[in-house]
Amino acid sequence: MSSDQAALVPRHVAIVMDGNGRWAKKRFLPRFFGHKQGVDALVKVVQACIDRNIDYLTVFAFSSENWKRPSDEVSGLMGLVLAAVSRYLARMGAMGVRIRIVGDRDAVSPKLRNAWNEAEAATAHNTKLTLSVAFNYGGRWDIVQACKSAMQAGVSPEALTESKLSEFMAMSYAPDPDLFIRTGGEVRISNFLLWQVAYTEFVFSDCLWPEFGEAQLDAAIEAFRERDRRFGGVKSTPPTAVAA
Ligand code: FPP
Repeated sequence: MSSDQAALVPRHVAIVMDGNGRWAKKRFLPRFFGHKQGVDALVKVVQACIDRNIDYLTVFAFSSENWKRPSDEVSGLMGLVLAAVSRYLARMGAMGVRIRIVGDRDAVSPKLRNAWNEAEAATAHNTKLTLSVAFNYGGRWDIVQACKSAMQAGVSPEALTESKLSEFMAMSYAPDPDLFIRTGGEVRISNFLLWQVAYTEFVFSDCLWPEFGEAQLDAAIEAFRERDRRFGGVKSTPPTAVAA
């Protein structure tokens, strides 16, 4: 590997943290314990991203479709997130993490909404890593809300371009993800950042999220480095001599 490749680090990593339920089931524990362990894995991965100079980490914590889960699992996840904010907010702040929440906040409880607002305000000045937590988020929801916001802002059909619409997407503050990781063995996007992953590199790992750590992150970065990113163009190769 050349030193150029060795230095190549994805600027923005997005992760679908899948496999918490199976991790718990394997241990004859309720699914909630898998999610609890998942929070601990996330804290470790945040630190690992900082150590590797990754600027943006975006994680799928609760999808628009996760409301379909049994009500005790949904309320367990809500409680877990609230507890995680109070347990880890100070630590995240000390690590230099800026927290952003992306998703439809209208449907979550006022208590959780306030906790999100507090987490964002308390960490707004941090610059080491932006951790975006997608919560009550769906890629299709994001595209529709961006269209609605653009219309409300008076953008005309003629003025609507890809870059104009990007300004209204929930993650307009971040570059598109370079690397998308999904743990847990499933090979699908599940309505995560649909608009933003047009040219993202995908890595699917069989590792269950609670077991994901530095070694698995490094393996994904290694796979990313081996990809040939062309963004729809062609690889630039030196012109070959043509015989006269
Ligand atoms: C998918 O595993 C995981 C989730 C739906 C929840 C992920 C949430 C966390 C790790 C907590 C995040 C907390 C904060 C504070 C950001 P699954 O339940 O679908 O697992 P399975 O496929 O094995 O059933």
